[in-house]
Amino acid sequence: EFIKEVSGFSVLEQSVKDKLHVDHVVVVPGNSDELDWVKQEMGKAAVDFLRSILHANQTIAVTGGTSMAAVAEMMTPLERAENCMFVPARGGLGERVENQANTICAEMAKKANGEYRLLYVPDPLSEESYQSIIGEPSVKEILHLIKQADVVIHGIGDAWTMAQRRKASGKILQRISDGNAVSEAFGYYFNQTGDVIHKVRTVGLQLEDLDNSQCVVAVAGGKSKAQAIISYFKQGKSNVLVTDEGAAKELIRD
Ligand code: F6P
Repeated sequence: EFIKEVSGFSVLEQSVKDKLHVDHVVVVPGNSDELDWVKQEMGKAAVDFLRSILHANQTIAVTGGTSMAAVAEMMTPLERAENCMFVPARGGLGERVENQANTICAEMAKKANGEYRLLYVPDPLSEESYQSIIGEPSVKEILHLIKQADVVIHGIGDAWTMAQRRKASGKILQRISDGNAVSEAFGYYFNQTGDVIHKVRTVGLQLEDLDNSQCVVAVAGGKSKAQAIISYFKQGKSNVLVTDEGAAKELIRD
Protein backbone atom coordinates (compact mmCIF):
# COMPACT_ATOMS: atom_id res chain seq x y z
CA GLU A 1 0.00 0.00 0.00
CA PHE A 2 2.82 2.41 0.96
CA ILE A 3 4.69 1.71 -2.27
CA LYS A 4 1.53 2.29 -4.27
CA GLU A 5 1.03 5.68 -2.57
CA VAL A 6 4.59 6.66 -3.39
CA SER A 7 4.22 5.75 -7.04
CA GLY A 8 1.02 7.76 -7.21
CA PHE A 9 -0.81 5.07 -9.11
CA SER A 10 -3.42 4.49 -6.43
CA VAL A 11 -4.84 7.94 -7.20
CA LEU A 12 -4.92 7.20 -10.92
CA GLU A 13 -6.50 3.79 -10.28
CA GLN A 14 -9.18 5.37 -8.10
CA SER A 15 -9.98 7.98 -10.78
CA VAL A 16 -10.36 5.27 -13.42
CA LYS A 17 -12.56 3.26 -11.05
CA ASP A 18 -14.84 6.27 -10.53
CA LYS A 19 -14.95 7.08 -14.22
CA LEU A 20 -15.84 3.55 -15.36
CA HIS A 21 -17.78 2.42 -12.28
CA VAL A 22 -15.78 -0.77 -11.78
CA ASP A 23 -14.79 -2.65 -8.64
CA HIS A 24 -11.09 -2.91 -9.25
CA VAL A 25 -8.52 -1.24 -11.50
CA VAL A 26 -4.81 -2.01 -11.93
CA VAL A 27 -2.64 0.50 -13.82
CA VAL A 28 0.90 -0.40 -14.91
CA PRO A 29 3.44 2.31 -15.85
CA GLY A 30 3.98 3.28 -19.51
CA ASN A 31 2.00 3.34 -22.74
CA SER A 32 1.75 0.04 -24.61
CA ASP A 33 1.12 1.88 -27.92
CA GLU A 34 4.76 2.90 -27.77
CA LEU A 35 6.54 0.13 -25.87
CA ASP A 36 5.88 -3.57 -26.24
CA TRP A 37 7.06 -4.50 -22.77
CA VAL A 38 4.25 -2.44 -21.24
CA LYS A 39 1.80 -5.01 -22.65
CA GLN A 40 3.79 -7.76 -20.94
CA GLU A 41 3.59 -5.80 -17.69
CA MET A 42 -0.20 -5.71 -18.10
CA GLY A 43 -0.07 -9.45 -18.70
CA LYS A 44 1.89 -9.92 -15.51
CA ALA A 45 -0.51 -7.71 -13.53
CA ALA A 46 -3.45 -9.72 -14.91
CA VAL A 47 -1.77 -12.98 -13.84
CA ASP A 48 -1.18 -11.54 -10.33
CA PHE A 49 -4.83 -10.54 -10.16
CA LEU A 50 -6.02 -13.99 -11.28
CA ARG A 51 -3.75 -15.59 -8.71
CA SER A 52 -5.38 -13.50 -5.97
CA ILE A 53 -8.96 -14.50 -6.82
CA LEU A 54 -8.92 -18.01 -8.32
CA HIS A 55 -9.85 -21.09 -6.31
CA ALA A 56 -9.51 -24.78 -7.05
CA ASN A 57 -11.80 -26.36 -9.65
CA GLN A 58 -12.84 -23.08 -11.29
CA THR A 59 -13.46 -22.47 -14.99
CA ILE A 60 -11.83 -19.51 -16.73
CA ALA A 61 -13.02 -18.33 -20.15
CA VAL A 62 -10.49 -16.38 -22.23
CA THR A 63 -10.65 -14.38 -25.45
CA GLY A 64 -8.04 -13.77 -28.13
CA GLY A 65 -5.90 -10.78 -29.11
CA THR A 66 -2.38 -9.61 -28.31
CA SER A 67 -3.20 -8.45 -24.75
CA MET A 68 -4.54 -11.90 -23.89
CA ALA A 69 -1.49 -13.43 -25.60
CA ALA A 70 0.64 -11.36 -23.19
CA VAL A 71 -1.35 -12.74 -20.23
CA ALA A 72 -0.65 -16.28 -21.49
CA GLU A 73 3.01 -15.42 -21.99
CA MET A 74 3.35 -14.25 -18.38
CA MET A 75 1.28 -17.06 -16.83
CA THR A 76 2.92 -19.13 -14.07
CA PRO A 77 1.59 -22.07 -12.02
CA LEU A 78 -1.47 -21.05 -9.99
CA GLU A 79 -0.85 -22.83 -6.70
CA ARG A 80 -4.20 -22.11 -5.07
CA ALA A 81 -6.17 -22.90 -8.16
CA GLU A 82 -5.62 -26.63 -8.63
CA ASN A 83 -7.65 -28.37 -11.23
CA CYS A 84 -8.72 -25.22 -13.03
CA MET A 85 -10.19 -25.45 -16.50
CA PHE A 86 -9.44 -22.92 -19.25
CA VAL A 87 -11.88 -22.55 -22.15
CA PRO A 88 -12.05 -20.13 -25.10
CA ALA A 89 -14.89 -17.63 -24.62
CA ARG A 90 -16.07 -17.69 -28.25
CA GLY A 91 -15.28 -19.44 -31.50
CA GLY A 92 -13.15 -18.01 -34.31
CA LEU A 93 -13.33 -14.24 -34.71
CA GLY A 94 -10.93 -13.80 -37.59
CA GLU A 95 -7.67 -13.56 -35.65
CA ARG A 96 -4.33 -15.07 -36.69
CA VAL A 97 -3.60 -18.41 -35.03
CA GLU A 98 -1.25 -17.01 -32.37
CA ASN A 99 -3.89 -14.50 -31.31
CA GLN A 100 -6.84 -16.89 -31.31
CA ALA A 101 -8.64 -17.74 -28.08
CA ASN A 102 -7.99 -21.49 -28.56
CA THR A 103 -4.21 -21.01 -28.81
CA ILE A 104 -4.09 -18.62 -25.87
CA CYS A 105 -6.32 -20.83 -23.76
CA ALA A 106 -4.09 -23.89 -24.28
CA GLU A 107 -0.92 -21.92 -23.44
CA MET A 108 -2.44 -20.40 -20.31
CA ALA A 109 -3.63 -23.79 -19.09
CA LYS A 110 -0.26 -25.43 -19.64
CA LYS A 111 1.65 -22.71 -17.80
CA ALA A 112 -0.90 -22.58 -14.98
CA ASN A 113 -0.83 -26.40 -14.65
CA GLY A 114 -4.52 -26.44 -15.46
CA GLU A 115 -6.78 -28.29 -17.88
CA TYR A 116 -8.23 -26.91 -21.09
CA ARG A 117 -10.91 -27.64 -23.66
CA LEU A 118 -11.05 -26.12 -27.11
CA LEU A 119 -13.81 -25.02 -29.46
CA TYR A 120 -13.43 -25.95 -33.11
CA VAL A 121 -15.66 -23.82 -35.28
CA PRO A 122 -15.19 -22.59 -38.83
CA ASP A 123 -14.63 -18.90 -39.20
CA PRO A 124 -16.67 -17.19 -40.63
CA LEU A 125 -19.72 -19.27 -39.82
CA SER A 126 -22.86 -19.42 -41.99
CA GLU A 127 -26.31 -19.52 -40.39
CA GLU A 128 -26.71 -23.11 -41.59
CA SER A 129 -23.44 -24.37 -40.10
CA TYR A 130 -24.13 -22.41 -36.93
CA GLN A 131 -27.38 -24.30 -36.39
CA SER A 132 -25.81 -27.70 -36.99
CA ILE A 133 -22.67 -26.98 -34.95
CA ILE A 134 -24.53 -25.95 -31.80
CA GLY A 135 -26.37 -29.28 -32.01
CA GLU A 136 -23.13 -31.33 -31.86
CA PRO A 137 -22.80 -33.09 -28.49
CA SER A 138 -19.09 -32.27 -28.13
CA VAL A 139 -19.76 -28.58 -28.84
CA LYS A 140 -22.74 -28.57 -26.48
CA GLU A 141 -20.58 -29.92 -23.71
CA ILE A 142 -17.96 -27.19 -24.00
CA LEU A 143 -20.60 -24.47 -24.48
CA HIS A 144 -22.02 -25.53 -21.15
CA LEU A 145 -18.59 -25.05 -19.51
CA ILE A 146 -18.13 -21.66 -21.19
CA LYS A 147 -21.51 -20.29 -20.13
CA GLN A 148 -20.87 -21.27 -16.52
CA ALA A 149 -17.34 -19.86 -16.33
CA ASP A 150 -16.50 -18.50 -12.87
CA VAL A 151 -14.03 -16.00 -14.28
CA VAL A 152 -13.86 -14.39 -17.72
CA ILE A 153 -10.74 -12.58 -18.93
CA HIS A 154 -10.88 -10.63 -22.18
CA GLY A 155 -9.44 -7.96 -24.43
CA ILE A 156 -11.06 -4.77 -25.70
CA GLY A 157 -10.24 -3.31 -29.10
CA ASP A 158 -10.86 -0.17 -31.08
CA ALA A 159 -13.83 -0.98 -33.37
CA TRP A 160 -12.30 0.13 -36.63
CA THR A 161 -8.91 -1.46 -35.88
CA MET A 162 -10.60 -4.78 -35.10
CA ALA A 163 -12.85 -4.76 -38.15
CA GLN A 164 -9.79 -4.19 -40.36
CA ARG A 165 -7.67 -6.77 -38.53
CA ARG A 166 -10.42 -9.34 -39.12
CA LYS A 167 -10.75 -8.37 -42.77
CA ALA A 168 -14.45 -7.67 -42.33
CA SER A 169 -16.50 -7.39 -45.55
CA GLY A 170 -17.41 -4.02 -47.06
CA LYS A 171 -20.97 -4.46 -45.85
CA ILE A 172 -19.87 -4.96 -42.27
CA LEU A 173 -17.36 -2.11 -42.40
CA GLN A 174 -20.23 0.07 -43.59
CA ARG A 175 -22.44 -1.02 -40.70
CA ILE A 176 -19.65 -0.30 -38.23
CA SER A 177 -19.00 3.13 -39.65
CA ASP A 178 -22.71 4.05 -40.02
CA GLY A 179 -23.30 2.97 -36.44
CA ASN A 180 -20.29 4.96 -35.19
CA ALA A 181 -18.89 1.91 -33.45
CA VAL A 182 -16.09 2.77 -31.04
CA SER A 183 -15.15 -0.46 -29.28
CA GLU A 184 -15.16 -4.22 -29.74
CA ALA A 185 -15.07 -7.11 -27.28
CA PHE A 186 -16.20 -10.77 -27.57
CA GLY A 187 -17.09 -10.17 -31.23
CA TYR A 188 -19.56 -7.38 -30.33
CA TYR A 189 -19.11 -3.84 -31.64
CA PHE A 190 -20.35 -0.98 -29.43
CA ASN A 191 -20.97 2.72 -30.03
CA GLN A 192 -20.03 5.60 -27.72
CA THR A 193 -23.02 5.00 -25.45
CA GLY A 194 -22.39 1.25 -25.27
CA ASP A 195 -25.13 0.03 -27.63
CA VAL A 196 -24.38 -3.06 -29.74
CA ILE A 197 -23.95 -2.05 -33.41
CA HIS A 198 -22.89 -5.41 -34.79
CA LYS A 199 -22.15 -8.91 -33.54
CA VAL A 200 -19.92 -11.53 -35.18
CA ARG A 201 -21.80 -14.81 -35.61
CA THR A 202 -19.97 -17.53 -33.78
CA VAL A 203 -20.69 -19.97 -30.96
CA GLY A 204 -19.78 -19.42 -27.33
CA LEU A 205 -20.25 -16.75 -24.73
CA GLN A 206 -22.97 -14.19 -25.32
CA LEU A 207 -22.91 -10.76 -23.71
CA GLU A 208 -25.82 -11.75 -21.41
CA ASP A 209 -23.82 -14.73 -20.10
CA LEU A 210 -21.37 -12.31 -18.48
CA ASP A 211 -24.02 -11.57 -15.85
CA ASN A 212 -23.51 -15.10 -14.49
CA SER A 213 -19.76 -14.71 -13.89
CA GLN A 214 -18.63 -13.38 -10.55
CA CYS A 215 -15.55 -11.82 -12.08
CA VAL A 216 -15.07 -10.39 -15.57
CA VAL A 217 -11.60 -8.97 -16.13
CA ALA A 218 -10.74 -6.72 -19.09
CA VAL A 219 -7.09 -6.32 -20.10
CA ALA A 220 -6.63 -3.33 -22.42
CA GLY A 221 -4.15 -0.49 -22.58
CA GLY A 222 -2.47 2.05 -24.82
CA LYS A 223 -3.48 5.70 -25.15
CA SER A 224 -5.18 4.91 -28.48
CA LYS A 225 -7.64 2.57 -26.74
CA ALA A 226 -8.98 5.05 -24.16
CA GLN A 227 -12.24 5.84 -26.02
CA ALA A 228 -12.80 2.14 -26.76
CA ILE A 229 -12.41 1.31 -23.07
CA ILE A 230 -14.92 4.01 -22.07
CA SER A 231 -17.39 2.80 -24.71
CA TYR A 232 -17.12 -0.88 -23.73
CA PHE A 233 -17.57 -0.18 -20.01
CA LYS A 234 -20.89 1.65 -20.69
CA GLN A 235 -22.49 -1.83 -20.77
CA GLY A 236 -21.21 -2.48 -17.25
CA LYS A 237 -20.49 -6.14 -18.01
CA SER A 238 -16.94 -6.28 -16.66
CA ASN A 239 -15.95 -5.42 -13.10
CA VAL A 240 -12.15 -5.35 -13.29
CA LEU A 241 -9.78 -3.48 -15.63
CA VAL A 242 -6.06 -4.09 -16.02
CA THR A 243 -4.65 -1.22 -18.07
CA ASP A 244 -1.62 1.01 -18.52
CA GLU A 245 -0.79 4.59 -17.70
CA GLY A 246 -1.20 5.70 -21.34
CA ALA A 247 -4.85 4.60 -21.47
CA ALA A 248 -5.62 5.52 -17.84
CA LYS A 249 -4.47 9.14 -18.11
CA GLU A 250 -6.29 9.61 -21.39
CA LEU A 251 -9.55 8.10 -20.25
CA ILE A 252 -9.92 10.27 -17.15
CA ARG A 253 -9.36 13.46 -19.17
CA ASP A 254 -12.29 15.89 -19.79
O1 F6P B 1 -10.39 -10.80 -31.28
C1 F6P B 1 -10.31 -11.08 -29.91
C2 F6P B 1 -10.18 -9.83 -29.09
O2 F6P B 1 -10.20 -10.16 -27.72
C3 F6P B 1 -11.23 -8.77 -29.38
O3 F6P B 1 -12.49 -9.05 -28.82
C4 F6P B 1 -10.58 -7.52 -28.89
O4 F6P B 1 -11.12 -6.36 -29.47
C5 F6P B 1 -9.16 -7.74 -29.36
O5 F6P B 1 -8.95 -9.15 -29.38
C6 F6P B 1 -8.12 -7.05 -28.55
O6 F6P B 1 -6.88 -7.31 -29.15
P1 F6P B 1 -5.54 -6.62 -28.68
O7 F6P B 1 -5.33 -7.02 -27.27
O8 F6P B 1 -4.53 -7.19 -29.62
O9 F6P B 1 -5.72 -5.15 -28.87
